[in-house]
Formats: sequence, C-alpha cells, structure tokens
Amino acid sequence: MRIGIDRMAFATTNDYLDLVELAKARNVDPNKYTIGIGQDQQAVVPPTQDIVTLGAAAAQKLLTPALMKNISTLIVATESGIDNSKAAAIYIKRLLGLNDFVRTVEMKEACYSATAGIQFARGIVALNPQETVLVIASDIARYGLDTPGEVTQGAGAVAMLISQNPHILNLEDTTVPYSKDIMDFWRPLYATEALVDGKYSTNVYIDFFKQTFTRYQQLTGRDLADFAAIAFHLPFTKMGKKGLESLLGERKDEVASRLRQQLKASQIYSRKVGNLYTGSLYLSLMSLLQNGNLNVGDRIGLFSYGSGAEGEFYTGILEEGYQNYMSNVEMDLARRHKVSVAKYEQLFNNQLGMKSEDVEFDDRNDPLPFVLKGQKNHQRI
Ligand code: CAA
Repeated sequence: MRIGIDRMAFATTNDYLDLVELAKARNVDPNKYTIGIGQDQQAVVPPTQDIVTLGAAAAQKLLTPALMKNISTLIVATESGIDNSKAAAIYIKRLLGLNDFVRTVEMKEACYSATAGIQFARGIVALNPQETVLVIASDIARYGLDTPGEVTQGAGAVAMLISQNPHILNLEDTTVPYSKDIMDFWRPLYATEALVDGKYSTNVYIDFFKQTFTRYQQLTGRDLADFAAIAFHLPFTKMGKKGLESLLGERKDEVASRLRQQLKASQIYSRKVGNLYTGSLYLSLMSLLQNGNLNVGDRIGLFSYGSGAEGEFYTGILEEGYQNYMSNVEMDLARRHKVSVAKYEQLFNNQLGMKSEDVEFDDRNDPLPFVLKGQKNHQRI
C-alpha cells in the first residue's frame, strides 16, 4: 500500500524581526548572523499566539469538509506545550471543528516528535486504509534575550495529512531511527527558555546524521547518487549545510553540486522564519518542494533530529501534482510586518509563559484566524 504525506500547510505569526538590526543591537557583525548562522529574519510572537493558535491556523489551510470526515487521529508534536497534562491536540480539535470520534494526543521528543507522529500515522493508515491522520508540528523556539541561541529563535506550525495514495510524498519502507540519552538541549519544567550546550548539540546532530545515513546505506545499498535532494531539520540554516558537507567532504561532482543546490532551495523559508523545532524539517521540505529543481518520481531523503537526542533518516518518492497540495508559504511571509528590536523585546517578555493570573490580550492587530484572548481562572480563552 502507498502511504505518505497527502497535504501540507504552514502558518507563522504576522510579525518578524530583521536579524541585521538585531546584530547591530547586540554589537555583533551582521555577517555572523546572515552568513555564519545563515538566518536573515525571525518570527516574533505576540501574546495572542501560541502553539495552539498557530497549529490550528496551519491545519485550517489544508482541511475541507470532505477531508475532515476521514480524520481518525490528530497528533500534535511540540516541545513548547501549553499544559503539562492536557494535550494541545484537544484544543486544536475543537478550533478546527473536527468531530468528537477523533483520537487526540500530544507527542514530545524535542524537535524530533513530528517524525515519530508521521511514522505512527503510517501504522494507523496501514491498518485502516480509509482513515487519515492529521499531524501538526507546532512550536515557539525561545532561548532568551542576548543569548547565543537568540538568533536561532523562531515560531510556526506545519500541518500534514497522512493517508493512502498520497498526493505529495509516498513514504518508503526503510527508515532508520537512532536515539541516545544525552544532554545537548533540554527545558526543565520550571524554565520558559531552553538550556543548551550549543556547540555540543551541533556535533551530536552531525553524528546522528552520519549514523542514520550509514545504516540506511547498509540496509538498502543506496548511496547519495540515489537522491534528488535531502531535506534537513534546520535549527538554523547553516546546520543543514554542516550536515550535508559532513558526507560530501571535498566532492565537487554532479551529485554533490545537485545536493548543494537543492539544500539552498530547502533553506529559503527557514532563513526568514527561524527554528520551528518540530516543524523545521517539514518547512525545509516545503521550501525544497516549492523552490527546488525536482521531478515526479524523485527520491527525497529526510533527516529529522531532536535534542536529547533522537534522529531518523527516511525517504519518500515525489508524486504527480505535488505542488497543488501545499499552502503558499511565500505569500504568507510576504504579508508579515517588521517590528523593531525594542518591540520584539517587549513582545518576548509578554508571552503568556508561566503567568498564573487572569489576563486579557489586545488582539486587534493580530490578523491570524485564531487568537489567544487571555486567561481566566487558569483557563485559556
Ligand atoms: N562573518 C561570518 N561568519 C561568522 C562571523 C562573521 N563576522 N563571525 C562568526 N561567524 C561564524 C563562525 O565561524 C561560526 O561558523 P561555523 O559554525 O561554520 O564555524 C558561526 O558563525 C557561529 O559562530 P560561533 O561559532 O561563534 O557560535 P555561537 O557561540 O554564536 O553559537 C550556536 C552558535 C551554538 C549555533 C548557538 O546559536 C546556539 O546555541 N543555538 C541553539 C542550539 C542549536 O540550534 N543547535 C543545533 C543542533 S541541536 C538541534 O538541531 C535541535 C534544535 O532544534 C535545538
């Protein structure tokens, strides 16, 4: 049976920060951010947006009444959840108007869990071919003002429908997960910002990519020449380059130049949004599919990585008409509004985070379809 990604849609906040302006405010050479890290802009999060509103906004773009009827399961992958107990998926299910006979659950393993969600969804569809699974990856990446991680923040959600006879990517059977208990990045329950051993995390990412790709080669006998492109988890776009170059080394042949070109196409959107944590790999895939040089039938590799740490390398074959089943990311990004560094700092400090008191937010300037209006009696409005 052919099972895979049938539709994809993306949503982010309406505000963004120019990272050259941030570099100047932090007394850093702007080239460090735009070339050294590979980021130009970053999504800024108003208090009226969180992973529930962003996840619902992304999913709403791909759903039609006919598609909604077949959804049996809603999986929300996140590492910036809004409740330690109740799943974000239940809030999103109501906002989307899905019926009550839907299984709803939230999944966590840093930036990796959307990939686990997709793999679990394959199993559900294999057992029940008429059912579809909605997987939503939604996150807000926060490291703190004036920290080394600040330039790699971001926010947004990617929603994906997993079904039989998919319109975008038919997922192939061989897939290589790899996990180890390590401390490269984590967020204890009492913290609103992540703790990170940044340099170590980049080394572990590369190690996990090599481990999973080598094992994939052993299992399938395939090598780099069998890929039209590889999409990477992009915590910042330079990380994808480091990953790819760790395999290519000094190679300058046709295969190497093709993979380098396609990597550039996959980095375009992340450069303007920043890290989406769970959604980053899938925004990278959307960027590749909308800007790359691809043909129907091409094999695409996907490298998923979540700190803590877990990676997975898997692949899919591009389907006829794939362009018609994704939301228009370029249009969303063009509509955004630039905010100053001072405004960004103010908004950063105003996110709901760990506040426990009643609060009401002004949502008049937020054009997104779902907004968080505040909190009353410890309940979200
Ligand atoms: N012009 C051009 N390039 C410059 C420059 C300049 N003026 N100044 C510095 N650079 C380059 C450096 O040479 C370096 O490039 P290389 O990595 O290719 O050597 C790059 O800019 C970064 O500079 P630093 O090495 O000084 O790094 P930093 O101390 O600023 O920290 C970071 C960088 C570790 C990535 C930090 O931003 C961080 O901690 N980020 C969060 C953690 C992260 O994203 N880790 C990724 C792997 S973990 C993961 O993938 C899960 C996840 O989503 C979190």
